[in-house]
Amino acid sequence: MLDPSRIMQRCDALARHSELSQGLTRVFLSPQSRAAGELVLGWMREAGMQARLDAIGNALGRYEGERPGLPCLMLGSHLDTVRDAGKYDGMLGVISAIECVDHLRAQGRKLPFAIEVVGFGDEEGVRFGTTLLGSRAIAGTLDPKVLEARDANGVSIAQALREFGLDPEKVHAVRKRRDELLAYVELHIEQGPVLEAEGLPVGVVSAINGFSRLRVTLRGEAGHAGTVPMKQRRDALAAAAECTLAVERLARAQPGLVGTVGRIEAKPGAINVIPGEVQFSVDVRSPEDAAREQAVAAVRTEIALISENRKIRFEIETLQELGSSACAHWLMGQLEQAVRAEGLRALRLASGAGHDGMAMKAVADIAMLFVRCKAGVSHNPAEAISNEDAGTGARVLYRFMHDFRPDLSA
Ligand code: GLV
Ligand code: MN
Ligand code: MN
Repeated sequence: MLDPSRIMQRCDALARHSELSQGLTRVFLSPQSRAAGELVLGWMREAGMQARLDAIGNALGRYEGERPGLPCLMLGSHLDTVRDAGKYDGMLGVISAIECVDHLRAQGRKLPFAIEVVGFGDEEGVRFGTTLLGSRAIAGTLDPKVLEARDANGVSIAQALREFGLDPEKVHAVRKRRDELLAYVELHIEQGPVLEAEGLPVGVVSAINGFSRLRVTLRGEAGHAGTVPMKQRRDALAAAAECTLAVERLARAQPGLVGTVGRIEAKPGAINVIPGEVQFSVDVRSPEDAAREQAVAAVRTEIALISENRKIRFEIETLQELGSSACAHWLMGQLEQAVRAEGLRALRLASGAGHDGMAMKAVADIAMLFVRCKAGVSHNPAEAISNEDAGTGARVLYRFMHDFRPDLSA
């Protein structure tokens, strides 16, 4: 039997592996991510899978089909979290997929294809600024130069991999070939309010919005907060505040577009010192790639103007950009059949959040099933789903997996 209580208990168990004693924070290649990975590998083995960590730190389990070595349907999601996260974003998809495989094992069933369940090591990109590292490695699109990206303590991804006991030279071998993958399908909490408003426990994703991530550095001049007259200041934090409002104004002007300054650091960071240097992040997303690109260009222009007016030097780095990713029609159709077989209306909705499918699309057709979350709250410790909805999500995923027919036109 698919067991919704076990799914919820396992989400609780994973949430205990956190950097903080209060709340959940688990970033890529941290000791907590190792512990969470080990737990997941154990559950995969109990469900009848061969399981291991790959060279980028993804937890990977394989349940062979009717014959060993058949191409696989890949199911899963990610195991890293944002800071002070909810316990379902990512984890629900990995645990639900394991539950589905366990149900196959319990019945002694093999399918005419293999199932692989993946718990990606990095989807959120919190530690290194650049995201989807696990899925980009599997898709074969991870430029080795990315491994030079550094965290806030100056540790590079390559160094962090070594400290984790992995070999950065082997990351390229994680790559899967297109003929090994029949599709990548992810169950995930919705992280928005649409399903709740529609009174539906699940929905089928049509596309994932594209995103651009920037890192902006503003350099003014540090000085004495008591002595430098206001007119003579080159305050980098005041400039960053103006830039933040510009991002908000530009995003508000475009329906469907969203823009966020989510991280800011001011130096030297003392109550009586005018901030001399500030670094902040910008995240811009839209279903329309052209609208996003125009907005990013406008943000750059605004930052240049604000900096000029305030005699500030500025630098803008593009950390990552990905276009919007459509889900495959043939997979959406099969997911919809599984939803209807549960007696539910099949609703299609777009994803405003980013997902591993954006990277996996380079090597396989993708689809996603969303599960309703309470009040649309996510990236927040208050993130919540019901036992019943977790059960419905797992049943739809199981039915989809069980009845899955590969796309023979490919
Ligand atoms: C990941 O959750 C993202 O959308 O940033
Ligand atoms: Mn997230
Ligand atoms: Mn997620």
